[in-house]
Amino acid sequence: MEEAIVLYPSPPIGHLISMVELGKLLLTHQPCLSIHILITSVPYNSGSTAPYIAGVAATIPSIKFHHLPTVTLPTTNTTHHEELTLEVLRLSNPHVREELLSISENYTIHGLIMDFFCTAALSVAKELNIPGYQFCSSGAGIVAIFLYLPTIHNSTTKSFKDLNSLLNFPGVPPIQSADMPLPLLDRHDKAYEYFIDFSTRFPEYAGVLVNTFESLEARAVKTISEGVCVPDNRTPPIYCIGPLIATEGRKDDTDHCNGKLECLTWLDSQPSESVVFLCFGSLGLFSKEQLREIALGLERSGQRFLWVVRNPPSDEKTVALSAQPDPDLDSLLPEGFLDRTEERGLVVKSWAPQVAVLNHPSVGGFVSHCGWNSVLEAVCAGVPLVAWPLYAEQRLNRVLLVEEMKLALPMNESDGGFVSAAEVEKRVRWLMEAEEGKLIRERTVAMKNAAKAALSEGGSSRVALSELVESWKHK
Ligand SMILES: *[C@@H]1O[C@H](CO)[C@@H](O)[C@H](O)[C@H]1NC(C)=O
Ligand SMILES: *[C@@H]1O[C@H](CO)[C@@H](O)[C@H](O)[C@H]1NC(C)=O
Ligand SMILES: *[C@@H]1O[C@H](CO)[C@@H](O)[C@H](O)[C@H]1NC(C)=O
Ligand SMILES: *[C@@H]1O[C@H](CO)[C@@H](O)[C@H](O)[C@H]1NC(C)=O
Repeated sequence: MEEAIVLYPSPPIGHLISMVELGKLLLTHQPCLSIHILITSVPYNSGSTAPYIAGVAATIPSIKFHHLPTVTLPTTNTTHHEELTLEVLRLSNPHVREELLSISENYTIHGLIMDFFCTAALSVAKELNIPGYQFCSSGAGIVAIFLYLPTIHNSTTKSFKDLNSLLNFPGVPPIQSADMPLPLLDRHDKAYEYFIDFSTRFPEYAGVLVNTFESLEARAVKTISEGVCVPDNRTPPIYCIGPLIATEGRKDDTDHCNGKLECLTWLDSQPSESVVFLCFGSLGLFSKEQLREIALGLERSGQRFLWVVRNPPSDEKTVALSAQPDPDLDSLLPEGFLDRTEERGLVVKSWAPQVAVLNHPSVGGFVSHCGWNSVLEAVCAGVPLVAWPLYAEQRLNRVLLVEEMKLALPMNESDGGFVSAAEVEKRVRWLMEAEEGKLIRERTVAMKNAAKAALSEGGSSRVALSELVESWKHK
């Protein structure tokens, strides 16, 4: 029988893209493998996946998509989309089971590789005697934190939001309790229960694949491998196989051909490493007030910039759960801003070709929300960061980037997360002109080379992937 691996991403398109990249990577090592990807749908906008899926299906016949039936959600009062996602995934378990059974009629399934949010499916894999793997699309520091989370949970009865203290996780710098991801802040939150349950189940995984490379996070990787993060149980084998970067964008490139051309043509006319790029992911949104502070800060910094502006949220949320129309720049930005900065700045609406921009020789710095994919894209392009986290595990990434990897300067928020024009001005200047920026730029370029080495023949990520693929042959 043909051999197969089944991949199970959670619904946001970023997770799907990471899984597809993982599938392609597995195919480079074992071209005869058949890759099956399970797709769930959620009752909110998670990015339009259909064109992307159609594109992959048309170009890579070894990757097959299986759409699971839509589940009906019980009514809930939840205020964040993580909980909805977790409920959908839990209720999808019977469909996952059916699909695995149907695939196994024609294939030997070597493993079900799921992301953290899909951990509920681990019991299905177990029942069907299929090894369950996790693919963590964040770094090893995040894995260390989640492995140790049940131990921290047991050590207190307070919620992280009320704790107001430093948390000591092995292998990473101390973490302010308030920097934990939103769904973890309140102990009485349903999502918190899921996260603790899922973290407790790490020992059941046959292995954990991480989109990182050893030299980027040497201490975290070593600490995990030594078993320190799971004091009272087995630590699953860790495979650092990254950096894995999407070769295709989140949006259909042909839709954005003009935008792409505009950005790159403009960058062509700028001096080497002179432009700071500001872009905050597909979900992050700022209020109108915050956009104006950024504009004033950029103007006063005197630096060249390429800034991707998206419409403010219609309510208080900083995460876009429905599609946003393009912004009206004239009404959003301070009066005269576009004219005054015309010579040294370009503001683009909603989208920019991030990987191409980061790799353009004129770009010298990146103000980012620190989603892990963006971090890896910056590292691979050798571009240092200013870390301005907005949601998910991004505050943890800021700590790791600033204090451990030393590839970023922090953006310092006041209470409520607001960042003043003065702070924007200061950090952008430091990044582009000051000694602080120079030091992290040197480190980032060194990491860019280390990433290349990890992925080349005999490099740590290549070796880790061969070990994983070899382990399937002896089953
Ligand atoms: C939602 O909140 C209302 C009012 O607080 C409450 O009566 C209801 O039981 C809640 N529903 C759920 C599903 O928790
Ligand atoms: C398995 O293969 C047979 C023969 O090619 C085919 O008829 C059947 O539909 C396949 N089953 C599944 C679940 O794909
Ligand atoms: C946490 O406490 C529970 C209940 O006492 C116990 O079963 C579990 O093993 C503890 N976990 C850790 C990681 O300490
Ligand atoms: C960050 O901002 C706070 C006040 O908002 C200030 O007290 C602190 O010194 C700032 N930290 C740095 C590193 O600038």
